[in-house]
This record gives sequence, structure tokens and C-alpha cells, in this order.
Amino acid sequence: MSVKALNQYLEFLKIAGVQDIFIKSIPIDQEFADNDLLESKKLLLQELSEKYADCQKCELHQGRIKLVYGQGNADAKLMVIGEAPGAEENKSGQAFVGKAGQLLDRQLKAINLTREEIYIANIVKCRPPGNRDPHPVEMEACMPYLQEQIEIIQPQIFLFLGRIAAQALLNTTTSLGRLRLTAHILNGIPAYVTYHPAAVLRFSEYRKPTWEDLQKVRDQYFMLPSKQR
Ligand code: URA
Repeated sequence: MSVKALNQYLEFLKIAGVQDIFIKSIPIDQEFADNDLLESKKLLLQELSEKYADCQKCELHQGRIKLVYGQGNADAKLMVIGEAPGAEENKSGQAFVGKAGQLLDRQLKAINLTREEIYIANIVKCRPPGNRDPHPVEMEACMPYLQEQIEIIQPQIFLFLGRIAAQALLNTTTSLGRLRLTAHILNGIPAYVTYHPAAVLRFSEYRKPTWEDLQKVRDQYFMLPSKQR
């Protein structure tokens, strides 16, 4: 039974006048439990994305066609965090679907991962005009949404794409060139940093260091145990 169905059933019992419920503990089939958890995480993320669709906490809502909440596996081990939606993302409501997104897909493939296995979100969920950097007030306004996503998904590794995401999440002004050299910790979770795919498309000299960073993520990812519940 899903969490939603269980809540509805409990509500029904309450209305029917049931005051006490005695619960007999039964062994839980782990696979069923994991499936239920995945379904409730999906539902929660879906509900939140709908709740924030009309957000007006900062000026970015003025140019919004669609809020780009994030997408992927609601119970992902790896959470990838970019900067902000671009024109394509603003139109589709999906993160990383433009040229940078296509490169990201190839990068993921090169480390034996797919979009379906990971979760992708951005620091801000609406497109900054002309793709300018998001302003600190905009990032601050949007950060609670991202923190909420992190709490729901509970990833085991992060990958931050580009300076804006890395500096905002690690609360630092250190350059990306230095940040990518070590793993960091955010909310107790290891965090890797690499160049933004859009930067890699523009500057070929970023290709090699990006590949080195992705290999570190791959090695770490494939050593992870199953999620502990
Ligand atoms: N760049 C980002 O940082 N995020 C997107 O979703 C698209 C491009």
C-alpha cells in the first residue's frame, strides 16, 4: 500500500470513529518497502513542483515560461546540481535539455550512468534574463526549494556543475579551479565539483580536467552500498 493510500485509509478510519489501532509487526519485504518509498518520494516531489509553479519570491518569475523544478530518480544516489535554466529549459520545464544538457548526457554515458538513475536540479528554478548569472538574492530565495529536494532524495553523492553552483552550495568564493581539486561535504554528503558543460562547450581546455573529475565521481558512485534505510 502506498503512503498516500495509507493516509487516506487512516483518514477514513478516523471519520468512521476508530480511535485506537493495534499494529502487529510483520517482516517487510525490502523490495516492496523500497518501491513504496520511491513512489512516495516521487509523489512528494511532484506535489512540490506544482506548488511552486507560480512562485514569485524573486524577479526571475517575470521571464518564466515554465519553472524548472528538476527531474530524475526521486531516490537517486547521485544528485547533479547546475546553475539555472536556459531558454530551452524555460520552454520545456525540464533541466538540461539544451546543448549543455546534451553534453551532460554524453558525460553521464561515459561514466556508465543515465539520466534515469540520477536526479538533476539547478540552484535557481527560473531562467535569468539573457542567461546572466543568478543574483545572490535570487539564489537565496530559491535555496529552500533545493534543500527540500535534497532532504527528500537523500543522495549519497553530489556533483556540482560550474562555479555558481559550487560557490553557492559550499558558501565560498574560492575559484572553481581550486574547488574541483578536492571532494567537499554538504549536509554530510560528499560533493564533487567540475566545470559546467556550457563552459566545456566553449573552452576545449576544460575537457580533460572535467573527464578527470567525472572519473572520480564514477569510482565513488560504483563503490556505494545500497541506500541504508
Ligand atoms: N544550464 C544549467 O545550469 N542548468 C540547466 O538546466 C540548463 C543549462
